[in-house]
Amino acid sequence: MQTTTRIFALALALSTASAFAQADLSEAFLPMFQPLPAQVPSPENELTEAKINLGRMLYYENRLSKGEKLSCNSCHMLHKYGQDNLPFSPGHEGKLGGRSSPSTYNAAIHIAQFWDGRAPTVEAQAKGPVLNPGEMGMPSAEFVEKVLKSIPGYVEAFKAAFPGEAEPITYDNFGKAVGAFERGLLTPGKWDTFLKGNKEALSAEEKKGFATFAKVGCVTCHNSAGVGGMMYQKLGLVKAWPDLKDNGRADVTKNEGEKYFFKVPSLRNITETAPYLHDGSVKTLDQMVKMMAEYQLGKQLTDEETASILTFLKALKGEIPTDYVKAPKLPEGTADTPKA
Ligand code: HEC
Ligand code: HEC
Repeated sequence: MQTTTRIFALALALSTASAFAQADLSEAFLPMFQPLPAQVPSPENELTEAKINLGRMLYYENRLSKGEKLSCNSCHMLHKYGQDNLPFSPGHEGKLGGRSSPSTYNAAIHIAQFWDGRAPTVEAQAKGPVLNPGEMGMPSAEFVEKVLKSIPGYVEAFKAAFPGEAEPITYDNFGKAVGAFERGLLTPGKWDTFLKGNKEALSAEEKKGFATFAKVGCVTCHNSAGVGGMMYQKLGLVKAWPDLKDNGRADVTKNEGEKYFFKVPSLRNITETAPYLHDGSVKTLDQMVKMMAEYQLGKQLTDEETASILTFLKALKGEIPTDYVKAPKLPEGTADTPKA
């Protein structure tokens, strides 16, 4: 009897100790994370209401695509967490690109844009897809400017967004307006409330999930305000990733040492953005978590650990800012509006 009591007391002491250790552990890792800001400021692109409103129109504008059927919102649907749930997105004439569409939500906080980081800012990035033959397929920047100049509503909106500029309609200013809009595409949720100090914002299970995420080592790559987005890392760091065809960052930097390096993606809203990876090759989050542990950290997760991490990842789902992303009324064209 006495022995049983002693064992019971010992077990209790141990479990409390490990509960403390777990709480301490998660506390220790919390400074690696920050809540989302209300906006992502830019030293080169002042965020004014007029510019953001123009950027929102341009984001939804089909007339900046060759067939007049595609806008940013076709592949980065704002009511679907900024992406399209497809491995590859159909561009002009249904052509499929070689990479999966990442979310435009919370992208402005990343170190750089694209899976391989080849564009430094959202402003620079926005100028890519319109002219990309496999995406919106417009013939030239000049042609885009010509279309915008033919639409009186855009002449007014660019003037208001870029006051004092002799020629407000330029392709650079197109990028700035879209970028300004994207700098407000943020989805704070209960994780942010928790990080701001409300310890009740997460359930005990979700906090335990964070402890598992931290203990297993996911935090070494997925951290900061985006829970990712802040560094490049090799896919298949400790064990070669199966069937990897994309060289990733090495094609941008021409540095062989960066072969198979990709931007560590943000895990915000990750339950909503399947399929996963730059090539959309992983269909479920459950499989994704297990593979990350195995190939990035050399660990085999138990089903319980996987479930615990999934519980944390679900808590990273934030709110879509429905008013901010509401599709605006687009200005009417004229008989002179050219068609590509
Ligand atoms: C035909 C589909 C398609 C269209 C249209 C499109 N994109 Fe993309 N977008 C993609 C794909 C695919 C990628 C990833 C490409 C890569 O990493 O090489 C991407 C990447 C991005 C990224 C980088 C996000 C990150 O996490 O790195 C941003 C931001 C973005 N697009 C914004 C836009 C904007 C703004 C427009 C409109 C001007 C637009 N896209 C039009 C498919 C599209
Ligand atoms: C060594 C760095 C590193 C570690 C550690 C790591 N990851 Fe990743 N993770 C990455 C990179 C890089 C990618 C993107 C690779 C790509 O797209 O090809 C990624 C992708 C993901 C994705 C898919 C995201 C998307 O949008 O498609 C999920 C989910 C994920 N990781 C979760 C985890 C979890 C959970 C852990 C811990 C078990 C973890 N990661 C550990 C670097 C890491």
